[in-house]
Amino acid sequence: MARFMHLISIDDLSKDDIVHILKRAEEFEDVARGLKVSKLLEGKILTNLFFEPSTRTRMSFETAMKRLGGDVINMTAQEASSIAKGESLADTIRVISKYVDVIVIRHPLEGSARFASEHSEVPVINAGDGAGQHPTQTLLDLYTIMKECGRIEGLKIALMGDLKYSRTVHSLIKALNLFDNEIYLISPESLRLPEEFLEEVKAKEVTLDEVIEEIDVLYVTRIQRERFPDEEEYRKVAGSYRITAETLSKAKENLIVMHPLPRVDEIDASVDKTRHAKYFDQAFYGVPVRMAILCEVLL
Ligand code: NCD
Repeated sequence: MARFMHLISIDDLSKDDIVHILKRAEEFEDVARGLKVSKLLEGKILTNLFFEPSTRTRMSFETAMKRLGGDVINMTAQEASSIAKGESLADTIRVISKYVDVIVIRHPLEGSARFASEHSEVPVINAGDGAGQHPTQTLLDLYTIMKECGRIEGLKIALMGDLKYSRTVHSLIKALNLFDNEIYLISPESLRLPEEFLEEVKAKEVTLDEVIEEIDVLYVTRIQRERFPDEEEYRKVAGSYRITAETLSKAKENLIVMHPLPRVDEIDASVDKTRHAKYFDQAFYGVPVRMAILCEVLL
């Protein structure tokens, strides 16, 4: 029995659901690496409905589906689909849900994935709704922490960068709080975490210098330029933080540095060769985790 039909917000999942998905993902690692063959999702079709750019999320869903024997159809560019003729999102979803078994949607408007799920006959997975939520990213972030730190609770975790607009942070912070981690927030003044989150989760605003020696995880995000209402505001903060190998010289030996990617200039290439860099492994973990999510909603 599926534990949930749609996956729209990390709030849709209990602690137990999260642990279940992470365990299941671990069982899929060999299939994700192409070392083992599985036909678990044979006959099932996924569609990627992306109204915003994506590399990792779209491709890892596609990889996950295909490595499990399923099929994928991607919507063509918006200009070439009926959306260009003025079709509403509700109608698009109503129709597509008659063709496929699961819809993965990314859209610039907050609340769009929830709205889509209300018009769909098949499971809808939110792959990012504006500055709202990105729950599948959170599951792979937790999986990365589990694999690289050995646990997902009782850790000291710093979230750094654009905490105002990063949907990956908005999802992740809730999950980290659920598992009793100590959360630190590091951001430029104008990109602080919105108040509504601080009412819900326990987190402390600090500087990197204050915590670098004690943290287990440093999760960095890029400035979400496309969410800024005003380009001038973006220019004021652009380039205002940057992690280098030198920045990490005082860190614990087993500190891990994560990033949902794409990075712009917030993590210098000098970090890539350090033992701390885990962002490329993190991108791989998206495959087994999305396999586990797809099995959850499709089987
Ligand atoms: C993130 C996103 O789309 O929110 N990317 C991703 O899914 N890995 C992060 C970002 O775009 O900065």
